[in-house]
Amino acid sequence: MEKNFKKFISGYLQNDNIYFYWKGRVALYALLKAMKVTKDDEVILPGFTCVVVANAIKYLGAIPIYVDVEKNTMNPTLESYKKAITPNTKVIITQNTFGLSTQVDEIAKMANAKGIFSIEDCTHGFGGTFKSKPNGTYCDAAFYSTQWNKPFSTGIGGFSLVNNQELIVDVEKVNDQLQKPSIKEKLVLSALLFSREYILNSSNYWRLRSFYRFLSKHNLVIGSSQGSELESTEIPDGFFKGMSDVQLKKGVNSLNDFDNLLLKRKENATIYSEFLNKNNKYHVDSELFNDHSFLKYPILVRDQNKFDDLARKVKIELGDWFCTPLYPVKNNLEKWDLNAESVPSALYLSKHIENLPTDTDNSFKVIEFLKSNINELI
Ligand SMILES: Cc1ncc(COP(=O)(O)O)c(C=O)c1O
Repeated sequence: MEKNFKKFISGYLQNDNIYFYWKGRVALYALLKAMKVTKDDEVILPGFTCVVVANAIKYLGAIPIYVDVEKNTMNPTLESYKKAITPNTKVIITQNTFGLSTQVDEIAKMANAKGIFSIEDCTHGFGGTFKSKPNGTYCDAAFYSTQWNKPFSTGIGGFSLVNNQELIVDVEKVNDQLQKPSIKEKLVLSALLFSREYILNSSNYWRLRSFYRFLSKHNLVIGSSQGSELESTEIPDGFFKGMSDVQLKKGVNSLNDFDNLLLKRKENATIYSEFLNKNNKYHVDSELFNDHSFLKYPILVRDQNKFDDLARKVKIELGDWFCTPLYPVKNNLEKWDLNAESVPSALYLSKHIENLPTDTDNSFKVIEFLKSNINELI
C-alpha cells in the first residue's frame, strides 16, 4: 500500500525521498529533529499559521520567532525573514498559505547562503507550483498534510519531502523512533472515514461538525488536534507516530480524482476573484494565480460573527482558518512566544478573514450569497 501511495506522490513531487506520518505536524517535528534543532535555537516562521507548527518547535525546547505577513499574499516577504535572523537562527519555515507560496526560491537560497536550514510548510499546497516547480521542492525539506480538509485526505495524516540529500540519513534515524498507531486508533479512524463518506451530508453537516470538534477537543475521538495541543506546549503522549495502513489505503483512493479537484478549485477561485475584483473588494490578484492552488479562497469581512450567521442560514460552508494568528488558539498566545501586536497585518487579517469553499459544485450559490451581503465585505 505504502509503495503505491509513495509512487504517486513521488511522481508529483519528482523526488523519491518521501516519509509518511500520523499527521503533518509529526512530519515537521521529525524534520526539525533531523536538523538537530534543540534548546534555545531559533526557528523563524510566519505569524499567521497553525498553532501546531509552533508546538513542534516548542516540543524541542527551541524558540519560535514570528514574522508578519503581507496583506495581499498572506505570507512574509524575503526581507522580513532576513530581518528576523540572529546568530541563533537554525531554521526558516516558509508556508503555502491557503495554497500560495511567495518568494520561496529566494528565501531558500538566502537561508542556504547563511548556513540556515529551510522548510516549506506545504500543508495547504500539495498540487500547487511555484515558478513551474511543485510546491515543496525549493527548500531543504517540506511537509504536507492529508488531514480532512486538505488538498487530498487520508482522514488525518501527513508526509515529508527531503530535498537535501545530506539530511536523509538523519531523517531515517529519527524515523526509527516512530511508534505504530494502535489497533484502537486505526479502528476509530476507519469509523470516522466511514461516517464522513456515508453519513455526513449537507443537512447534518453543521451539527456533526460541532459534535466532532467537541469530541476531538476532549480527546474522545481522534481529531485534528487534541485539547492539550491547544492549551499546552508539552509534547502529548504518543505524538511521534507513523502513518497507519488505514491512512495509506485511503490516500491511494483519494488521489484518483486529485487532478479534477485541483482544476475545480482553480475554476471556482477565478469566478470568486472576478466577482470580488469587479466590486472593488479584497481578492487574490490575478498575477498570483499561476502559483496558487486555492485550497480555500480567503476573503475579508467587516464582522466575522455576523457573516458566519448569514452563511449558516443559507447553508454555505465557510471556513474559519486563521481567524487568529495562531489558529485556532485565541488567547494566551504568549505561551507560544507570540505577541500578536508584533504581527499587525496578521492580526488585522485574522480579525476579518473568512474562507470560501473552492471544492464546491455550486459556486453560483456562493456568488449569490456574496452579492446579497456585498456591504459586509471589505
Ligand atoms: C499552516 C499549517 N501548518 C501545519 C498544519 C498541521 O497539519 P496536520 O493537521 O496534518 O498536523 C496545519 C493544519 O492543519 C496548517 O494549517
